[in-house]
Amino acid sequence: MITVVGSLNMDLVVFTDKIPRPGETVLGKNFQQVPGGKGANQADAAAKLGASVHMVGCVGDDSFGSTLKDCLYADGVHVDYVLTKPNISTGVAVILVEASGDNCITVAPGANFSMSHDNILQAKEVIKDSEVLLLQLEIPLEIVKTAILTAKEAGKKVILNPAPAQELDEEILDHIDLLTPNETELELLSGHKTDTLENIELAGKILLNRGVKELVITLGSSGCLHMTKKATVHYEAYKVQAVDTTAAGDSFNAALAVHISAGKTMEEAITFAMKVGALTVTKEGAQTSLPLLREVESFEEWMKGRAQG
Ligand code: RIB
Repeated sequence: MITVVGSLNMDLVVFTDKIPRPGETVLGKNFQQVPGGKGANQADAAAKLGASVHMVGCVGDDSFGSTLKDCLYADGVHVDYVLTKPNISTGVAVILVEASGDNCITVAPGANFSMSHDNILQAKEVIKDSEVLLLQLEIPLEIVKTAILTAKEAGKKVILNPAPAQELDEEILDHIDLLTPNETELELLSGHKTDTLENIELAGKILLNRGVKELVITLGSSGCLHMTKKATVHYEAYKVQAVDTTAAGDSFNAALAVHISAGKTMEEAITFAMKVGALTVTKEGAQTSLPLLREVESFEEWMKGRAQG
């Protein structure tokens, strides 16, 4: 079992040939409203990959909130600990996706930032019963900390995806079993530049020396780096045509959590997560792009089919 503590957002997405510069207006293409939020995406992805998942978070008392909860429930996520808060709007993300598949995102956190220690207290039993607690940073940091300490009290594994990037103190870093930053997040967390593979490894070592037990650093189309104090292993990315990279990091993290909670090795977990991330970028949207387990299981055939034409 996995518990995800984090955000739920309604994503308002415009596909465009070009992301405008400040002060510029461009005409985009189509618009989509898609369930998102890093926490909800990770919970949804883990459920689609076959895990039993509890989501802990907050939405507002509005139509976005009820839609987000319904969508998670329909995909098999337990939503008993997704609370509906009065007088506050549900989190919203405004997303621009350009032709290359790259995006830029601004989040209005709304109800996500109304999460309180009580939310964690209410979900204490499921957190303690889960093999893995999976978190991100789209909710208040003190709530992230409380959830981490709750899981660690029960000796459970904690995976933190430090997105969006913000500085973390030793109390948090010390209790993290697996940290999964991208290059930008790693640079902010370590205070070391990440412009080359060598510098990325040095930045990773800084975090390992500050108490993090294990790192998977995501490098986009360059794959990822798995680091412990004993070894560093580079995994190549699968080459696919990206149409929208939104939620690729979320599905990658969810896949790691699914395999780790099932007792698989890190090599198995990372190979599985690379496939899940690759499939995610081939479809538009956040939760609309998350693959099912059977799609991941037939990944090699799917790649062969694409290569043949
Ligand atoms: O990681 C992608 C997610 O980031 C989007 O779904 C959006 O809601 C933002 O939280």
